[in-house]
Amino acid sequence: MNWTHDPTRLALLAGLALCYALVCLAPWRQARGKRAAARAASAALALDQRGDPPWLVAYASQTGNAELLAEQTAATLRLAGIGVRLATLDQVTRDDLQRSERILFLVSTYGEGDPPDNAAVFASRVLAGAPAPSGLSLPHLHYAVLALGDHDYQQFCGFGRTLDTWLAAHGAAPLFARIEVDRSAEAPIAAWRQQLSHLAGTSDAPDWSGPGFTDWRLAARHLLNGGSAGAPLYHLELEPAAGALPDWQSGDLVQVAAPSEPDRPREYSIASLPQDGRVHLLVRLHRHPDGSAGLVSGWLTGTAAVGSSLPLRLRPHRRFRLEDNAQRPLILIGNGSGIAGLRGHLKARVLAGQRDNWLVFGERNAGADSHYHAEIAAWQASGHLPRLDMVFSRDQPQREYVQDRLRHHAALLADWVGRGAALYVCGSLSGMASGVDQALEAVLGRPALDALAAAGRYRRDVY
Ligand SMILES: Cc1cc2nc3c(=O)[nH]c(=O)nc-3n(C[C@H](O)[C@H](O)[C@H](O)COP(=O)(O)OP(=O)(O)OC[C@H]3O[C@@H](n4cnc5c(N)ncnc54)[C@H](O)[C@@H]3O)c2cc1C
Ligand SMILES: Cc1cc2nc3c(=O)[nH]c(=O)nc-3n(C[C@H](O)[C@H](O)[C@H](O)COP(=O)(O)O)c2cc1C
Repeated sequence: MNWTHDPTRLALLAGLALCYALVCLAPWRQARGKRAAARAASAALALDQRGDPPWLVAYASQTGNAELLAEQTAATLRLAGIGVRLATLDQVTRDDLQRSERILFLVSTYGEGDPPDNAAVFASRVLAGAPAPSGLSLPHLHYAVLALGDHDYQQFCGFGRTLDTWLAAHGAAPLFARIEVDRSAEAPIAAWRQQLSHLAGTSDAPDWSGPGFTDWRLAARHLLNGGSAGAPLYHLELEPAAGALPDWQSGDLVQVAAPSEPDRPREYSIASLPQDGRVHLLVRLHRHPDGSAGLVSGWLTGTAAVGSSLPLRLRPHRRFRLEDNAQRPLILIGNGSGIAGLRGHLKARVLAGQRDNWLVFGERNAGADSHYHAEIAAWQASGHLPRLDMVFSRDQPQREYVQDRLRHHAALLADWVGRGAALYVCGSLSGMASGVDQALEAVLGRPALDALAAAGRYRRDVY
């Protein structure tokens, strides 16, 4: 009998062949896994002839979106065995531009088309003099730009566009056309990932999805500034609708998504510590020019009922955390709802027994706008707040703001910075933070202020 006509034998033979194939493939599969791991490990060591990793991933980020995408970009390249240096744009020198062959830029835009804080020095030292300062020619450089922004601003992706134009004007060659991301939209980020996989020659990519929104219960809300000349400011307390309270650090943010605009969450600075048992926020009711309430602030301060639940997620805000500054003297500067981020830090300092704190805080009238005055008075009494400057702009004929008070205390400010102090600024970008920046420049000098920023001793949560 021809055994190839016996179905039982055929099945047996097929089974044996499959087992044999699996046995043979097992070492190959193992080796493949090991090779991938080895590629990733050696990526960290892969250097070019000058001793640098061959790819540079440079980011400019204020609240962390571009930073996270840059980390994910670097991780994807490393997984493909490519050596990568990850740096803020301020850490990138003209020399880096002249020597590098491949740079991926991930940059957001602030102010009105301005660079984020960790690209300000790069913008003034490298980009200034655009379009073509003499002596810089980059024909060897291949680059790509992922620009983050928000279409509501006039200068959409302004800084990313400026950077791209500048690079092209200096002879650098784009690896692919600039990709622009409107409010963290998913499609352009997917396009960036696809280009990256193509460049790296890999389909392996680590998970890029961030933590999702979960339901939180609005546990308490009260008005902080009844009778104020300013817009209503509310203290809110939130707790997870289910499960344990997650961890965070002072300086971190939350994002709240309104049901009517879930794809465009708003950021709020956390004003409490996990030890408080709840997330505290300070939300100012925003009004549009036509008098209607801001979408999310109107909802949080009015429409949303106490006891109802809302979608929220915590966002690490590394650029505003205490980190290495935990042991330094701290100068906390802010106005209005900016007391939120400063209160978080003060609470952390009190908990750590750190007494070297100076708060410079501005509002309109002492009568209506002394937010958290009992708490602040208690910190003064316990010695945790040895210097306090409450600056009420409208309580005297001559208007006075925090930046004026800083200039007034120039010698003391210089002395604190000389003793190693770090500066934290929280609140409005246009009214306060730019004035404070100018006052600090007047007292300390721009080079010293830039050096403080580069060392992480000048940090801002401004909006
Ligand atoms: C890092 C960071 C931290 C922040 N921390 C705080 C905080 O601690 N406390 C706080 O109160 N806020 C904070 N904010 C601001 C907050 O995120 C929101 O921007 C603010 O609450 C306004 O949002 P809204 O939805 O109420 O207003 P929106 O409805 O978004 O209105 C805001 C602006 O959008 C435009 N706009 C939108 N719709 C219209 C319309 N129909 N007509 C005219 N103009 C329109 C206008 O320019 C308007 O001024 C922070 C922001 C950032 C980036
Ligand atoms: C105060 C402020 C100013 C902004 N200015 C602009 C702007 O001029 N143009 C723009 O496209 N986006 C602007 N944005 C939007 C940010 O670029 C966008 O939210 C981006 O995702 C932030 O990324 P990051 O977290 O890396 O800083 C601004 C955002 C804030 C809070």
